[in-house]
Amino acid sequence: MQNLAKFLATAFICLILVNFSRAQENIVTLQPAKAKTVINKNIYGHFAEHLGHCIYEGIWVGENSAIPNVRGIRTDVVTALREMAIPNLRWPGGCFADEYHWKNGIGPSEKRPTMINTNWGGVTEDNSFGTNEFLDLCEQLGCEPVITGNVGSGTVEEMSQWVEYVNSDNISPMTDLRKANGRQTAWKVKFWGLGNESWGCGGSMSPEFYFDQLMRYSNFARDYGDNRLYRVAVGPNVDDYNWTETMMRLWSKKSPWDQRLMNGLSLHYYTLCNGWGDKGSATAFNEKDWFSTLRATGRMDELINKHLAIMDKYDPEHKVGLVVDEWGNWFDVEPGTNPGFLFQQNTLRDALVAGINLNIFNNHADRIVMANIAQMVNVLQSMILTRKEQMVLTPTYHVFKMYKVHQGGTLIPITLSCRDYTVDGESLPSISVSASKDTSGKMHVTLVNLDPNSENSVTVNMGINQNVAVSGEVITSKNMNDYNDFGQVPKVVAAKFDKFKVSNGQLVVALPSKSVVCLEIAAK
Ligand code: AHR
Repeated sequence: MQNLAKFLATAFICLILVNFSRAQENIVTLQPAKAKTVINKNIYGHFAEHLGHCIYEGIWVGENSAIPNVRGIRTDVVTALREMAIPNLRWPGGCFADEYHWKNGIGPSEKRPTMINTNWGGVTEDNSFGTNEFLDLCEQLGCEPVITGNVGSGTVEEMSQWVEYVNSDNISPMTDLRKANGRQTAWKVKFWGLGNESWGCGGSMSPEFYFDQLMRYSNFARDYGDNRLYRVAVGPNVDDYNWTETMMRLWSKKSPWDQRLMNGLSLHYYTLCNGWGDKGSATAFNEKDWFSTLRATGRMDELINKHLAIMDKYDPEHKVGLVVDEWGNWFDVEPGTNPGFLFQQNTLRDALVAGINLNIFNNHADRIVMANIAQMVNVLQSMILTRKEQMVLTPTYHVFKMYKVHQGGTLIPITLSCRDYTVDGESLPSISVSASKDTSGKMHVTLVNLDPNSENSVTVNMGINQNVAVSGEVITSKNMNDYNDFGQVPKVVAAKFDKFKVSNGQLVVALPSKSVVCLEIAAK
Protein backbone atom coordinates (compact mmCIF):
# COMPACT_ATOMS: atom_id res chain seq x y z
CA MET A 1 0.00 0.00 0.00
CA GLN A 2 2.84 2.34 1.01
CA ASN A 3 4.66 1.52 -2.25
CA LEU A 4 1.54 2.29 -4.27
CA ALA A 5 1.17 5.67 -2.57
CA LYS A 6 4.86 6.39 -3.25
CA PHE A 7 4.41 5.39 -6.90
CA LEU A 8 1.32 7.58 -7.31
CA ALA A 9 3.03 10.55 -5.69
CA THR A 10 6.07 10.16 -7.97
CA ALA A 11 3.84 9.79 -11.04
CA PHE A 12 1.92 12.92 -10.03
CA ILE A 13 5.14 14.94 -9.63
CA CYS A 14 6.40 13.65 -13.02
CA LEU A 15 3.12 14.68 -14.65
CA ILE A 16 3.42 18.17 -13.20
CA LEU A 17 7.03 18.41 -14.37
CA VAL A 18 6.17 17.22 -17.89
CA ASN A 19 3.32 19.71 -18.12
CA PHE A 20 5.49 22.45 -16.70
CA SER A 21 8.21 21.83 -19.26
CA ARG A 22 5.55 21.67 -22.01
CA ALA A 23 4.25 25.02 -20.84
CA GLN A 24 7.78 26.33 -21.30
CA GLU A 25 7.95 25.14 -24.91
CA ASN A 26 7.50 27.61 -27.74
CA ILE A 27 5.47 26.11 -30.56
CA VAL A 28 4.29 27.81 -33.73
CA THR A 29 2.00 25.77 -35.99
CA LEU A 30 1.50 26.99 -39.56
CA GLN A 31 -1.61 26.04 -41.51
CA PRO A 32 -0.63 26.85 -45.10
CA ALA A 33 -3.51 24.77 -46.50
CA LYS A 34 -5.94 27.24 -44.89
CA ALA A 35 -4.26 30.37 -46.27
CA LYS A 36 -6.83 32.54 -48.07
CA THR A 37 -6.64 36.21 -47.01
CA VAL A 38 -4.35 38.48 -48.98
CA ILE A 39 -2.27 40.90 -46.89
CA ASN A 40 -2.93 44.35 -48.34
CA LYS A 41 0.45 45.85 -49.21
CA ASN A 42 -0.87 49.17 -47.89
CA ILE A 43 -0.48 47.84 -44.34
CA TYR A 44 3.19 48.77 -44.90
CA GLY A 45 2.33 52.43 -45.52
CA HIS A 46 3.96 55.63 -44.28
CA PHE A 47 3.12 59.16 -43.21
CA ALA A 48 4.89 62.47 -43.94
CA GLU A 49 3.63 65.66 -42.31
CA HIS A 50 4.74 69.27 -42.48
CA LEU A 51 6.28 68.85 -39.05
CA GLY A 52 9.84 69.59 -37.96
CA HIS A 53 12.33 68.28 -40.52
CA CYS A 54 10.14 65.61 -42.08
CA ILE A 55 9.31 67.43 -45.32
CA TYR A 56 11.84 70.28 -45.24
CA GLU A 57 15.41 68.90 -45.11
CA GLY A 58 14.25 65.29 -44.73
CA ILE A 59 12.64 65.04 -48.16
CA TRP A 60 12.64 68.45 -49.80
CA VAL A 61 15.89 70.37 -50.21
CA GLY A 62 14.99 72.40 -53.31
CA GLU A 63 16.50 72.19 -56.75
CA ASN A 64 19.43 74.49 -55.94
CA SER A 65 20.64 72.43 -53.01
CA ALA A 66 24.15 70.92 -53.01
CA ILE A 67 22.48 67.73 -51.71
CA PRO A 68 21.80 65.51 -54.74
CA ASN A 69 18.13 65.79 -55.66
CA VAL A 70 15.62 65.26 -58.44
CA ARG A 71 13.45 68.35 -58.88
CA GLY A 72 14.18 69.31 -55.24
CA ILE A 73 13.56 65.87 -53.69
CA ARG A 74 16.51 64.13 -51.99
CA THR A 75 17.90 61.27 -54.07
CA ASP A 76 19.42 59.35 -51.13
CA VAL A 77 16.11 59.26 -49.25
CA VAL A 78 14.12 58.20 -52.32
CA THR A 79 16.62 55.44 -53.16
CA ALA A 80 16.52 54.03 -49.62
CA LEU A 81 12.71 54.12 -49.47
CA ARG A 82 12.38 52.41 -52.84
CA GLU A 83 14.53 49.54 -51.54
CA MET A 84 12.13 49.22 -48.63
CA ALA A 85 9.21 48.97 -51.12
CA ILE A 86 7.08 51.77 -49.73
CA PRO A 87 3.50 51.14 -50.92
CA ASN A 88 1.80 54.43 -49.99
CA LEU A 89 2.42 57.79 -48.36
CA ARG A 90 -0.06 59.87 -46.33
CA TRP A 91 0.30 63.69 -46.50
CA PRO A 92 0.15 66.67 -45.55
CA GLY A 93 -0.82 65.76 -41.95
CA GLY A 94 -1.73 65.02 -39.21
CA CYS A 95 -2.87 68.10 -37.37
CA PHE A 96 -1.28 70.22 -40.10
CA ALA A 97 -3.87 68.96 -42.62
CA ASP A 98 -6.74 70.78 -40.93
CA GLU A 99 -5.18 74.18 -41.39
CA TYR A 100 -3.57 73.55 -44.78
CA HIS A 101 -4.98 75.42 -47.74
CA TRP A 102 -3.79 73.62 -50.82
CA LYS A 103 -4.04 76.58 -53.21
CA ASN A 104 -1.25 78.28 -51.23
CA GLY A 105 1.04 75.42 -52.21
CA ILE A 106 0.80 75.52 -56.03
CA GLY A 107 2.24 77.72 -58.76
CA PRO A 108 5.56 79.59 -58.83
CA SER A 109 7.31 78.98 -55.53
CA GLU A 110 8.29 82.62 -54.93
CA LYS A 111 4.65 83.69 -55.20
CA ARG A 112 3.28 81.18 -52.69
CA PRO A 113 1.92 82.77 -49.50
CA THR A 114 3.44 81.74 -46.19
CA MET A 115 1.62 80.56 -43.07
CA ILE A 116 2.43 79.79 -39.46
CA ASN A 117 2.60 76.12 -38.60
CA THR A 118 0.73 76.61 -35.32
CA ASN A 119 0.69 72.92 -34.41
CA TRP A 120 4.38 72.27 -34.82
CA GLY A 121 6.78 74.79 -33.34
CA GLY A 122 5.06 77.94 -34.66
CA VAL A 123 7.55 78.10 -37.53
CA THR A 124 6.87 79.80 -40.86
CA GLU A 125 5.78 77.42 -43.59
CA ASP A 126 6.73 78.80 -47.00
CA ASN A 127 4.58 76.33 -48.92
CA SER A 128 7.43 75.46 -51.29
CA PHE A 129 6.46 71.80 -51.01
CA GLY A 130 2.85 71.47 -52.17
CA THR A 131 0.55 69.23 -54.16
CA ASN A 132 2.67 68.95 -57.34
CA GLU A 133 5.85 68.30 -55.34
CA PHE A 134 4.12 65.65 -53.18
CA LEU A 135 2.74 63.82 -56.18
CA ASP A 136 6.16 64.01 -57.86
CA LEU A 137 7.62 62.44 -54.70
CA CYS A 138 5.09 59.60 -54.87
CA GLU A 139 5.95 59.00 -58.52
CA GLN A 140 9.66 58.93 -57.69
CA LEU A 141 8.95 56.47 -54.85
CA GLY A 142 6.61 54.37 -56.98
CA CYS A 143 3.96 54.52 -54.24
CA GLU A 144 0.29 55.48 -53.95
CA PRO A 145 -0.50 58.94 -52.56
CA VAL A 146 -2.91 59.33 -49.65
CA ILE A 147 -4.13 62.94 -49.32
CA THR A 148 -5.81 64.20 -46.17
CA GLY A 149 -8.22 67.08 -46.82
CA ASN A 150 -8.96 70.03 -44.57
CA VAL A 151 -12.31 69.53 -42.83
CA GLY A 152 -11.35 71.56 -39.74
CA SER A 153 -10.72 75.03 -41.18
CA GLY A 154 -11.26 74.56 -44.92
CA THR A 155 -14.41 74.63 -46.99
CA VAL A 156 -16.33 72.00 -48.89
CA GLU A 157 -15.58 73.91 -52.10
CA GLU A 158 -11.84 73.93 -51.36
CA MET A 159 -11.79 70.18 -50.81
CA SER A 160 -13.92 69.57 -53.89
CA GLN A 161 -11.61 71.71 -56.06
CA TRP A 162 -8.52 69.94 -54.73
CA VAL A 163 -9.90 66.59 -55.90
CA GLU A 164 -10.78 68.17 -59.26
CA TYR A 165 -7.26 69.68 -59.63
CA VAL A 166 -5.64 66.32 -58.90
CA ASN A 167 -8.02 63.85 -60.53
CA SER A 168 -10.05 65.40 -63.36
CA ASP A 169 -9.20 65.15 -67.05
CA ASN A 170 -12.13 67.36 -68.07
CA ILE A 171 -11.76 70.92 -69.27
CA SER A 172 -12.33 73.05 -66.17
CA PRO A 173 -10.87 75.96 -64.19
CA MET A 174 -9.05 73.56 -61.83
CA THR A 175 -7.60 71.40 -64.60
CA ASP A 176 -6.50 74.55 -66.45
CA LEU A 177 -4.71 75.61 -63.28
CA ARG A 178 -2.99 72.24 -63.05
CA LYS A 179 -1.90 72.42 -66.68
CA ALA A 180 -0.59 75.95 -66.13
CA ASN A 181 1.49 74.47 -63.31
CA GLY A 182 3.09 72.01 -65.70
CA ARG A 183 1.00 68.85 -65.28
CA GLN A 184 -1.16 67.81 -68.21
CA THR A 185 -2.74 64.55 -67.07
CA ALA A 186 -4.61 63.77 -63.88
CA TRP A 187 -2.76 61.87 -61.17
CA LYS A 188 -5.84 59.76 -60.33
CA VAL A 189 -5.33 59.67 -56.58
CA LYS A 190 -7.57 57.05 -55.00
CA PHE A 191 -7.06 57.49 -51.24
CA TRP A 192 -8.45 60.64 -49.60
CA GLY A 193 -8.77 61.34 -45.89
CA LEU A 194 -11.66 63.54 -44.77
CA GLY A 195 -10.00 65.48 -41.98
CA ASN A 196 -7.66 64.30 -39.25
CA GLU A 197 -8.35 63.77 -35.56
CA SER A 198 -11.56 65.80 -35.82
CA TRP A 199 -12.19 64.88 -32.17
CA GLY A 200 -9.05 66.88 -31.26
CA CYS A 201 -6.63 69.07 -33.25
CA GLY A 202 -8.90 68.75 -36.32
CA GLY A 203 -11.73 70.74 -34.73
CA SER A 204 -12.77 69.23 -31.36
CA MET A 205 -15.98 67.87 -32.88
CA SER A 206 -18.46 65.38 -31.47
CA PRO A 207 -18.85 62.20 -33.55
CA GLU A 208 -22.41 63.22 -34.51
CA PHE A 209 -21.27 66.64 -35.79
CA TYR A 210 -18.25 65.16 -37.57
CA PHE A 211 -20.37 62.51 -39.29
CA ASP A 212 -22.55 65.19 -40.86
CA GLN A 213 -19.48 67.15 -41.95
CA LEU A 214 -18.04 63.96 -43.42
CA MET A 215 -21.14 63.42 -45.55
CA ARG A 216 -20.90 66.96 -46.97
CA TYR A 217 -17.16 67.00 -47.68
CA SER A 218 -17.16 63.46 -48.99
CA ASN A 219 -20.16 64.01 -51.23
CA PHE A 220 -18.47 66.86 -53.07
CA ALA A 221 -15.13 65.04 -53.32
CA ARG A 222 -16.09 63.60 -56.70
CA ASP A 223 -15.07 60.50 -58.59
CA TYR A 224 -13.60 61.44 -61.99
CA GLY A 225 -13.44 59.02 -64.91
CA ASP A 226 -12.95 55.46 -63.76
CA ASN A 227 -11.17 56.48 -60.54
CA ARG A 228 -13.34 55.50 -57.57
CA LEU A 229 -12.17 57.32 -54.45
CA TYR A 230 -11.48 55.42 -51.26
CA ARG A 231 -12.73 57.86 -48.61
CA VAL A 232 -11.19 57.50 -45.17
CA ALA A 233 -13.24 58.95 -42.31
CA VAL A 234 -11.74 60.12 -39.05
CA GLY A 235 -11.98 57.27 -36.58
CA PRO A 236 -11.34 56.86 -32.89
CA ASN A 237 -8.54 58.02 -30.71
CA VAL A 238 -7.15 54.89 -29.02
CA ASP A 239 -10.04 53.33 -27.04
CA ASP A 240 -12.79 55.84 -27.79
CA TYR A 241 -15.33 53.11 -28.54
CA ASN A 242 -18.17 55.62 -28.42
CA TRP A 243 -16.68 57.37 -31.49
CA THR A 244 -16.60 54.11 -33.42
CA GLU A 245 -20.08 53.12 -32.24
CA THR A 246 -21.59 56.49 -33.23
CA MET A 247 -19.87 56.67 -36.62
CA MET A 248 -20.87 53.13 -37.53
CA ARG A 249 -24.44 53.50 -36.26
CA LEU A 250 -24.97 56.67 -38.30
CA TRP A 251 -23.32 55.07 -41.32
CA SER A 252 -25.55 51.97 -41.07
CA LYS A 253 -28.68 54.16 -41.30
CA LYS A 254 -27.60 55.63 -44.63
CA SER A 255 -28.67 54.37 -48.05
CA PRO A 256 -26.12 52.21 -49.91
CA TRP A 257 -25.49 55.24 -52.17
CA ASP A 258 -24.51 57.41 -49.21
CA GLN A 259 -22.62 54.60 -47.49
CA ARG A 260 -20.04 54.81 -50.27
CA LEU A 261 -19.02 58.18 -48.76
CA MET A 262 -17.19 56.33 -45.99
CA ASN A 263 -15.05 53.43 -47.18
CA GLY A 264 -12.55 53.34 -44.35
CA LEU A 265 -12.47 54.35 -40.69
CA SER A 266 -9.15 55.37 -39.19
CA LEU A 267 -7.63 54.48 -35.83
CA HIS A 268 -4.79 56.38 -34.14
CA TYR A 269 -2.77 54.68 -31.44
CA TYR A 270 0.75 55.64 -30.39
CA THR A 271 2.99 53.49 -28.19
CA LEU A 272 3.90 55.40 -25.03
CA CYS A 273 6.42 54.01 -22.58
CA ASN A 274 4.54 55.16 -19.46
CA GLY A 275 1.73 57.37 -20.76
CA TRP A 276 1.74 60.98 -22.05
CA GLY A 277 3.14 62.30 -18.77
CA ASP A 278 6.23 60.07 -18.88
CA LYS A 279 7.11 59.27 -22.49
CA GLY A 280 10.74 58.66 -21.58
CA SER A 281 13.92 58.89 -23.58
CA ALA A 282 14.20 57.15 -26.95
CA THR A 283 17.69 55.91 -26.09
CA ALA A 284 18.31 56.08 -22.33
CA PHE A 285 16.01 53.43 -20.90
CA ASN A 286 16.16 50.36 -18.67
CA GLU A 287 14.52 46.94 -18.85
CA LYS A 288 11.40 48.19 -17.05
CA ASP A 289 10.91 50.79 -19.82
CA TRP A 290 11.62 48.15 -22.46
CA PHE A 291 8.94 45.93 -20.93
CA SER A 292 6.32 48.67 -20.57
CA THR A 293 6.91 49.88 -24.15
CA LEU A 294 6.46 46.37 -25.54
CA ARG A 295 3.38 45.83 -23.38
CA ALA A 296 1.90 49.15 -24.55
CA THR A 297 2.50 48.28 -28.19
CA GLY A 298 0.85 44.87 -27.79
CA ARG A 299 -2.32 46.74 -26.82
CA MET A 300 -2.79 47.47 -30.53
CA ASP A 301 -4.23 43.96 -30.91
CA GLU A 302 -6.85 44.54 -28.20
CA LEU A 303 -7.84 47.91 -29.71
CA ILE A 304 -8.21 46.44 -33.19
CA ASN A 305 -10.31 43.54 -31.89
CA LYS A 306 -12.64 45.80 -29.91
CA HIS A 307 -13.11 48.42 -32.64
CA LEU A 308 -13.67 45.69 -35.22
CA ALA A 309 -16.30 44.03 -33.03
CA ILE A 310 -18.25 47.32 -33.03
CA MET A 311 -17.76 47.80 -36.76
CA ASP A 312 -18.89 44.25 -37.49
CA LYS A 313 -22.11 44.81 -35.53
CA TYR A 314 -23.19 47.56 -37.93
CA ASP A 315 -21.38 46.30 -41.01
CA PRO A 316 -21.56 42.49 -41.17
CA GLU A 317 -20.57 42.59 -44.85
CA HIS A 318 -17.34 44.40 -44.02
CA LYS A 319 -17.88 47.26 -46.44
CA VAL A 320 -15.89 49.63 -44.20
CA GLY A 321 -12.20 48.85 -43.72
CA LEU A 322 -10.02 49.74 -40.75
CA VAL A 323 -7.18 52.15 -41.52
CA VAL A 324 -4.57 52.48 -38.76
CA ASP A 325 -3.19 55.67 -40.25
CA GLU A 326 -1.05 56.76 -37.31
CA TRP A 327 0.94 54.38 -35.11
CA GLY A 328 4.42 53.99 -33.66
CA ASN A 329 6.59 54.99 -30.70
CA TRP A 330 6.32 58.48 -29.24
CA PHE A 331 9.18 59.33 -26.87
CA ASP A 332 10.61 62.60 -25.55
CA VAL A 333 12.38 64.71 -28.17
CA GLU A 334 16.17 64.46 -28.30
CA PRO A 335 17.76 66.89 -25.81
CA GLY A 336 18.44 70.30 -27.33
CA THR A 337 16.00 69.89 -30.24
CA ASN A 338 12.82 71.93 -30.81
CA PRO A 339 10.07 70.31 -28.68
CA GLY A 340 7.59 71.04 -31.48
CA PHE A 341 9.62 69.04 -34.02
CA LEU A 342 9.18 65.59 -32.41
CA PHE A 343 12.66 64.43 -33.40
CA GLN A 344 13.64 61.18 -31.66
CA GLN A 345 16.33 58.53 -32.12
CA ASN A 346 15.42 54.96 -32.93
CA THR A 347 16.88 51.88 -31.19
CA LEU A 348 16.57 48.13 -31.25
CA ARG A 349 13.45 48.67 -29.07
CA ASP A 350 11.84 50.49 -32.04
CA ALA A 351 12.71 47.53 -34.27
CA LEU A 352 10.80 45.20 -31.95
CA VAL A 353 7.84 47.59 -31.74
CA ALA A 354 7.71 47.70 -35.57
CA GLY A 355 7.95 43.90 -35.85
CA ILE A 356 5.21 43.31 -33.24
CA ASN A 357 2.80 45.82 -34.84
CA LEU A 358 3.36 44.53 -38.36
CA ASN A 359 2.69 40.98 -37.11
CA ILE A 360 -0.54 42.22 -35.50
CA PHE A 361 -1.63 43.97 -38.72
CA ASN A 362 -0.80 40.90 -40.84
CA ASN A 363 -2.84 38.70 -38.53
CA HIS A 364 -5.82 41.07 -39.02
CA ALA A 365 -5.36 41.22 -42.80
CA ASP A 366 -9.04 40.39 -43.35
CA ARG A 367 -10.10 43.81 -42.00
CA ILE A 368 -7.09 46.14 -42.07
CA VAL A 369 -6.78 47.80 -45.45
CA MET A 370 -4.03 50.28 -44.64
CA ALA A 371 -1.66 51.35 -41.87
CA ASN A 372 0.77 54.27 -41.77
CA ILE A 373 3.63 54.49 -39.32
CA ALA A 374 4.36 57.97 -37.95
CA GLN A 375 6.49 59.27 -39.53
CA MET A 376 8.74 58.62 -42.51
CA VAL A 377 11.72 60.94 -41.93
CA ASN A 378 13.02 62.82 -38.84
CA VAL A 379 9.76 62.67 -36.85
CA LEU A 380 8.72 60.13 -34.16
CA GLN A 381 9.43 56.50 -35.18
CA SER A 382 11.20 57.27 -38.44
CA MET A 383 12.65 55.11 -41.16
CA ILE A 384 15.31 57.68 -41.91
CA LEU A 385 17.11 60.44 -40.02
CA THR A 386 18.94 63.20 -41.87
CA ARG A 387 21.48 65.82 -40.88
CA LYS A 388 22.42 68.09 -43.76
CA GLU A 389 23.81 65.75 -46.46
CA GLN A 390 24.06 62.76 -44.07
CA MET A 391 21.43 60.05 -43.79
CA VAL A 392 20.92 57.27 -41.23
CA LEU A 393 18.75 54.21 -41.79
CA THR A 394 17.06 53.36 -38.50
CA PRO A 395 16.37 49.91 -37.00
CA THR A 396 12.70 50.48 -37.95
CA TYR A 397 13.74 50.93 -41.60
CA HIS A 398 15.45 47.53 -41.52
CA VAL A 399 12.33 45.85 -40.12
CA PHE A 400 10.10 47.33 -42.85
CA LYS A 401 12.60 46.21 -45.49
CA MET A 402 12.76 42.72 -44.01
CA TYR A 403 8.96 42.41 -43.76
CA LYS A 404 8.32 43.57 -47.34
CA VAL A 405 8.02 39.88 -48.33
CA HIS A 406 4.57 39.92 -46.66
CA GLN A 407 3.22 42.67 -48.96
CA GLY A 408 0.51 41.11 -51.11
CA GLY A 409 1.23 37.64 -49.66
CA THR A 410 -1.52 35.32 -48.45
CA LEU A 411 -1.79 35.18 -44.68
CA ILE A 412 -1.06 31.76 -43.20
CA PRO A 413 -3.20 31.06 -40.12
CA ILE A 414 -1.04 30.13 -37.14
CA THR A 415 -1.34 28.95 -33.57
CA LEU A 416 1.25 30.02 -31.03
CA SER A 417 2.01 28.77 -27.56
CA CYS A 418 4.99 30.29 -25.85
CA ARG A 419 6.61 30.98 -22.52
CA ASP A 420 6.16 34.31 -20.82
CA TYR A 421 8.68 37.13 -20.50
CA THR A 422 8.39 38.40 -16.92
CA VAL A 423 9.64 41.58 -15.27
CA ASP A 424 8.79 42.48 -11.65
CA GLY A 425 6.02 39.89 -11.55
CA GLU A 426 4.33 41.14 -14.75
CA SER A 427 4.31 39.00 -17.86
CA LEU A 428 3.95 39.19 -21.62
CA PRO A 429 4.05 36.42 -24.24
CA SER A 430 7.73 36.27 -25.17
CA ILE A 431 7.09 35.73 -28.89
CA SER A 432 5.15 37.53 -31.62
CA VAL A 433 4.70 35.89 -35.03
CA SER A 434 2.96 36.10 -38.40
CA ALA A 435 3.36 34.16 -41.65
CA SER A 436 2.42 34.43 -45.29
CA LYS A 437 2.81 32.63 -48.60
CA ASP A 438 3.96 34.52 -51.69
CA THR A 439 2.79 33.91 -55.26
CA SER A 440 5.65 31.48 -55.91
CA GLY A 441 4.54 29.36 -52.92
CA LYS A 442 7.41 30.35 -50.61
CA MET A 443 6.42 30.84 -46.98
CA HIS A 444 7.72 33.72 -44.88
CA VAL A 445 7.59 33.63 -41.10
CA THR A 446 8.44 36.73 -39.07
CA LEU A 447 9.21 36.20 -35.38
CA VAL A 448 10.01 38.62 -32.58
CA ASN A 449 11.69 37.53 -29.34
CA LEU A 450 10.65 40.12 -26.75
CA ASP A 451 12.97 38.76 -24.07
CA PRO A 452 16.13 40.89 -23.91
CA ASN A 453 17.95 38.35 -21.72
CA SER A 454 17.33 34.87 -23.12
CA GLU A 455 17.45 33.07 -26.41
CA ASN A 456 14.11 31.43 -27.23
CA SER A 457 14.00 28.02 -28.86
CA VAL A 458 10.92 27.80 -31.10
CA THR A 459 9.55 24.72 -32.81
CA VAL A 460 7.77 25.64 -36.04
CA ASN A 461 5.42 22.96 -37.39
CA MET A 462 5.53 23.90 -41.06
CA GLY A 463 2.37 22.10 -42.12
CA ILE A 464 3.89 20.70 -45.33
CA ASN A 465 5.24 17.25 -46.14
CA GLN A 466 7.99 18.25 -48.51
CA ASN A 467 11.71 18.77 -48.32
CA VAL A 468 12.36 22.43 -47.80
CA ALA A 469 15.16 24.91 -48.12
CA VAL A 470 15.17 27.47 -45.31
CA SER A 471 17.03 30.75 -45.13
CA GLY A 472 16.80 33.65 -42.72
CA GLU A 473 17.68 37.17 -41.68
CA VAL A 474 17.93 38.66 -38.19
CA ILE A 475 17.92 42.14 -36.67
CA THR A 476 19.46 42.33 -33.21
CA SER A 477 22.33 44.01 -31.38
CA LYS A 478 24.42 43.72 -28.23
CA ASN A 479 22.39 46.21 -26.17
CA MET A 480 18.67 46.89 -26.14
CA ASN A 481 19.27 50.62 -26.64
CA ASP A 482 21.77 50.36 -29.50
CA TYR A 483 21.02 52.67 -32.42
CA ASN A 484 22.49 53.89 -35.69
CA ASP A 485 24.06 57.33 -35.57
CA PHE A 486 25.49 59.87 -38.00
CA GLY A 487 29.08 59.18 -38.98
CA GLN A 488 29.18 55.82 -37.11
CA VAL A 489 29.21 52.25 -38.35
CA PRO A 490 25.54 51.21 -38.00
CA LYS A 491 24.95 48.81 -35.10
CA VAL A 492 21.41 47.66 -35.78
CA VAL A 493 21.11 46.17 -39.26
CA ALA A 494 19.78 43.00 -40.88
CA ALA A 495 22.22 40.07 -41.03
CA LYS A 496 22.10 36.51 -42.35
CA PHE A 497 20.54 34.08 -39.87
CA ASP A 498 21.17 30.33 -39.76
CA LYS A 499 20.43 29.24 -36.21
CA PHE A 500 17.81 26.67 -37.16
CA LYS A 501 17.50 22.95 -37.93
CA VAL A 502 14.98 21.23 -40.15
CA SER A 503 13.71 17.68 -39.65
CA ASN A 504 10.42 15.82 -40.26
CA GLY A 505 8.30 18.83 -41.16
CA GLN A 506 9.58 20.74 -38.15
CA LEU A 507 11.89 23.67 -37.94
CA VAL A 508 13.64 24.33 -34.65
CA VAL A 509 14.78 27.95 -34.44
CA ALA A 510 17.10 29.47 -31.85
CA LEU A 511 15.73 33.01 -31.69
CA PRO A 512 18.39 35.31 -30.24
CA SER A 513 17.35 37.48 -27.29
CA LYS A 514 15.74 40.84 -28.30
CA SER A 515 15.56 40.04 -31.99
CA VAL A 516 13.39 40.21 -35.08
CA VAL A 517 13.83 37.26 -37.46
CA CYS A 518 12.43 36.51 -40.91
CA LEU A 519 12.54 32.95 -42.25
CA GLU A 520 11.91 31.94 -45.84
CA ILE A 521 10.71 28.36 -46.35
CA ALA A 522 10.78 27.10 -49.95
CA ALA A 523 9.78 23.62 -51.12
CA LYS A 524 12.69 21.84 -52.83
O1 AHR B 1 2.14 62.39 -35.84
C1 AHR B 1 2.10 63.54 -35.03
C2 AHR B 1 0.67 63.97 -34.70
O2 AHR B 1 0.05 63.01 -33.91
C3 AHR B 1 -0.26 64.13 -35.87
O3 AHR B 1 -0.14 65.37 -36.49
C4 AHR B 1 -1.60 64.00 -35.24
O4 AHR B 1 -2.57 63.51 -36.11
C5 AHR B 1 -1.35 63.08 -34.05
O5 AHR B 1 -1.91 63.56 -32.89
